[in-house]
Amino acid sequence: MDDTPEIIPRDIRFGIAAQPDRAWFDGDLLKSALVDGFAVMLPEGERFFIRSLRPFAGELKDPEVLKGIQGYALQEAFHTREHESYNDGLRALGYDVEGMEAKAKRMLSAAQGPRSRVVVTCAIEQITYSMSCSVLGRPKLLRRVNPAYRRLWTWHALEEVEHSAVAFQVLHAIPSRLPGWKRYVGRVLTFGTVVAAVCNLALRNAFSMVRASGQEVTLGVRLRFLWIILVYPGFITRLIGACLASLRPGYRGGGGAKDARLIESGRRILAEEGLAPIHHAAPSPGPIPA
Ligand SMILES: [Fe+2]
Ligand SMILES: [Fe+2]
Repeated sequence: MDDTPEIIPRDIRFGIAAQPDRAWFDGDLLKSALVDGFAVMLPEGERFFIRSLRPFAGELKDPEVLKGIQGYALQEAFHTREHESYNDGLRALGYDVEGMEAKAKRMLSAAQGPRSRVVVTCAIEQITYSMSCSVLGRPKLLRRVNPAYRRLWTWHALEEVEHSAVAFQVLHAIPSRLPGWKRYVGRVLTFGTVVAAVCNLALRNAFSMVRASGQEVTLGVRLRFLWIILVYPGFITRLIGACLASLRPGYRGGGGAKDARLIESGRRILAEEGLAPIHHAAPSPGPIPA
């Protein structure tokens, strides 16, 4: 556990609702819509993650796991608040946020039972962790991005890497009567299903956003989406390595020297932006939604 990063909840407001931008990513509607098509699901997702892990805080005795759940819940609560503001911005741009949130909620409600919800949380956390590694590992990626969005995504990416191991720690600490191989197969199948469902919803949301922006989803637009996803910036291809790593039996989330470098870089960028000191005295208290 020595290489487990410190989880620092940072209560920062980015005020995206007051300055929505449909082309915040390099002035490019399609790149922005692809990220927004995923981002619009985050408030539903993050409330689901907190509700999935927090019940175990009363059952698990390992102090490291308990501390991880507490830091995790605070970070995700702040993310939820800022992504609700983000979604208010998407609403102001004329997007069908309610419809997109309803679909995300339906997808998450398919997970039945406490353990299954933790497995789904692990799967989505691994997706956000993979995205975050890609963001923090390529600082030039966000160089020409609208500054308010760049700050929000850097902050979110940093905290996703800091807490990437928590859901897996909880999963491994939950007692189960199932043999290890059955638990492993269940985790891998869930991961594949969740990745397919999230990508499908994000893409459909992006199409809907493009149409709501007054542009048709022509063959040319679809090909350009493919280029963005697969080639440059490679929104999906860049995630494959970290996602595949999580399919290793016994995988316990991120950590290690590579993540330590990413975290150091993220903390330095936030400090340079004047958003948060590199060293915090203690996590600040904050809202944890019920
Ligand atoms: Fe988050
Ligand atoms: Fe997270």
